[in-house]
Amino acid sequence: MRLSDVSPCTVILASFLIAPAQAFYLPGVAPTSYKSGDLVPLNVNRLTPVGNQDGSLRSVISFDYYHPAFHFCRPEPEPKYVSESLGSILFGDRIMTSPFELKMGINETCKKSCAEKKFDQSSAHFVNRRIAQGFALNWLIDGLPAGQLIEDEVTKTKFYSQGFALGIVDDTGVHLNNHYDIIVDYHEVTADQYRVVGVIVQPDSRDKQDDRCGERGPRLTLQDNLETNVQFTYSVYWRPSPTAWATRWDKYLHVFDPKIHWFSLINSAVIVVFLTITVVSILMRALRRDIQRYNRLDSINLDDLSGTSAVAEDGVQEDSGWKLVHGDVFRAPSHPLILSVFLGNGAQLFVMTGFTIAFALLGFLSPSNRGSLGTLMILLYTVLGFIGGYVSARVYKSFSGEKWKLNIGLTPLLVPGIVFSVFFLLNLFLWIQASSGAVPFTTMLVIVGIWFLISVPLSFAGSWFGFRQPAISPPVRINQIPRQIPPSSTYMRPVPSMLLVGILPFGAIFVELYFIMSSIWFSKVYYMFGFLFLCYGLMIITCAAVTVLMIYFLLCSENYHWHWRAFMTAGASAGYVFANAMIYWVTKLQLGGLAGSVLYIGYSALISFLFFILTGTIGYLTSWAFVQKIYGSIKID
Ligand SMILES: *[C@@H]1O[C@H](CO)[C@@H](O)[C@H](O)[C@H]1NC(C)=O
Repeated sequence: MRLSDVSPCTVILASFLIAPAQAFYLPGVAPTSYKSGDLVPLNVNRLTPVGNQDGSLRSVISFDYYHPAFHFCRPEPEPKYVSESLGSILFGDRIMTSPFELKMGINETCKKSCAEKKFDQSSAHFVNRRIAQGFALNWLIDGLPAGQLIEDEVTKTKFYSQGFALGIVDDTGVHLNNHYDIIVDYHEVTADQYRVVGVIVQPDSRDKQDDRCGERGPRLTLQDNLETNVQFTYSVYWRPSPTAWATRWDKYLHVFDPKIHWFSLINSAVIVVFLTITVVSILMRALRRDIQRYNRLDSINLDDLSGTSAVAEDGVQEDSGWKLVHGDVFRAPSHPLILSVFLGNGAQLFVMTGFTIAFALLGFLSPSNRGSLGTLMILLYTVLGFIGGYVSARVYKSFSGEKWKLNIGLTPLLVPGIVFSVFFLLNLFLWIQASSGAVPFTTMLVIVGIWFLISVPLSFAGSWFGFRQPAISPPVRINQIPRQIPPSSTYMRPVPSMLLVGILPFGAIFVELYFIMSSIWFSKVYYMFGFLFLCYGLMIITCAAVTVLMIYFLLCSENYHWHWRAFMTAGASAGYVFANAMIYWVTKLQLGGLAGSVLYIGYSALISFLFFILTGTIGYLTSWAFVQKIYGSIKID
């Protein structure tokens, strides 16, 4: 099992305890120093599709480096897996050892990686297809990904791409890169102590192999109709560099155009703040007026029983408004069980997202600690099972639900179960494709183990606590007989109201979503957690504000079925997220084949579903607080 650092927290704690006197480094990011001539490890990761020259992605499936069709040189006796975290396995890393020998500070040219390889027709066909799809090799030298040097046309800065090309496509055909110029930048810390601070690989395709490795010769083409012999070669160049070890990641973390980010963020922030202030002020004015009127009418009624005018005024005034439904707003919704389960899981997701972003902001998720983001999210979700159970139980109890056993059971099983089943089915597709993105069976078992051994018991404990608390009692009595609901205007009907309300929280995260998607599908490093944090905050505020406004209008139109309405209208922004993913699919991706499309749609649906639960919960809980507050502040005779 490759789960060396399943628990970053314990490792962090341990490193605090062990090395208090030394400089403090997070696990996985402590520097390694090499003496000249020391072997520097070069590990290989899976092959990933990156965008073509025109910026479109042709595949979302990745392959193992030692997939037999590639015929890459293998180390003796066998390639071995390098230990990885759970998150990095889930996110598709498959890191293995390689036969390349890099000796610190020693330049070597034209080394053969292994004996000549024979490409038969089917592997030639396979590899040529992958080259045409723009696949890239991902190597890690001293934990640093090898990239190609690229210049940004907008900002004119140089930066490293992630990975380097498997082959080249030009007018003469498709060529496999079989020679690698590995250029390693090193930094001297003290005498004869060197650290790796930058890695570039310039791949090349060379047909005729001589003592200069066929430099400037013709390119190599894998023939589709006969066998081709291929010699893999490499050269290593070491360059001294002034870059300090601490800043070695900066060249990878390249913001394509920071102006776009700021612009859109300020844009949405202004809209959101303006909107929220408008909503809140309108609402406050209306509410204060309503509450004053209701309470004044009440006192007139009590003081002056004989006054016919007051009774008449009462009758006229009370004909409309949200006070009329006071005997019904706290009636339990339909399907209280499902709603409470969703709310429990939503609260769990909400807290998890908040913590994850906060940790990332504090710099705990260094890119050199591969997979730390995934590991942290899984860990947090597991531990926060307690909150899920608690919230679900309390909500269910306040709905006076009776199937409490079912509630306790479904809270940790329903939503994670849906997510896991979809994940499992998508994984089957990957297995069929023999893609390295497929999560190994052992990892699946570990996830199920964590789920049932940690998350489920914690959720049960939370539920137990939740059910022991007294039920949240409504501020007003519930009438025996439900009121008639008058017919509503068009925009208050469920679907139009969902469409109207859902677009605003989506607007708050729209731009950041674009960057997250390109980091997921184009395997780019995502690190703009500051932006993400602000966007998340804006999204919460918008979501809460517009849902509350919606519910106010709903109650004013004497419709008291607000529970599901609040959840669904806020959750409707997930529909926009999904639609956005589909637009991205049409415009940015050119996925040939069924498997790629199924995977893309499947993962988009999964993310949208979780987003639905999250925003729905935010909308519901704020509406709940709002309803409690307004009906708590009027006097009911
Ligand atoms: C190794 O090659 C690099 C790049 O060509 C060069 O800058 C450096 O001086 C060489 N080092 C040695 C020891 O020859």
